[in-house]
Amino acid sequence: MGDDSFIAWKDSYSVGIPKIDEQHQELINLTQRLHQACLSGSETGKFYFKKAMHDLVSYVTFHFSAEEKLMERMGFPELPEHKKEHEGFVKKVLEDVKKFESGKSIVPHTFVRFLREWILTHIAKTDQKYSSYIANSQHKKVSEELLL
Ligand SMILES: [Fe+2]
Repeated sequence: MGDDSFIAWKDSYSVGIPKIDEQHQELINLTQRLHQACLSGSETGKFYFKKAMHDLVSYVTFHFSAEEKLMERMGFPELPEHKKEHEGFVKKVLEDVKKFESGKSIVPHTFVRFLREWILTHIAKTDQKYSSYIANSQHKKVSEELLL
């Protein structure tokens, strides 16, 4: 990514679980792609924006379920609150996808800015909570295996 990167990975985002870090990087890449599609306001740009939205939704679904499975298997006590954050995000994203598809104007830039803020805050704050829980638990070694 060059200087024009809208959203970028930082090492401080790491949750200490390589597979989850990879997934977070992919979320960041998908958001960057959506931003790129935003910049070209043409019909082609619109087509790519729509496609990127769908890719994001399916990746988010896959990633949240991997994370929730991990927290569940690790007995993470704040799982219900964490799940609620995930659900709220998915709900909002799906609403915007629906609006976009039914031709109602959502502002693509507002949408990607929301994505960026939510994803970065969630990774840097909320996901760090299970990260420290896992790091401090005797389950640390099995956390990777659970994701296979
Ligand atoms: Fe999460």
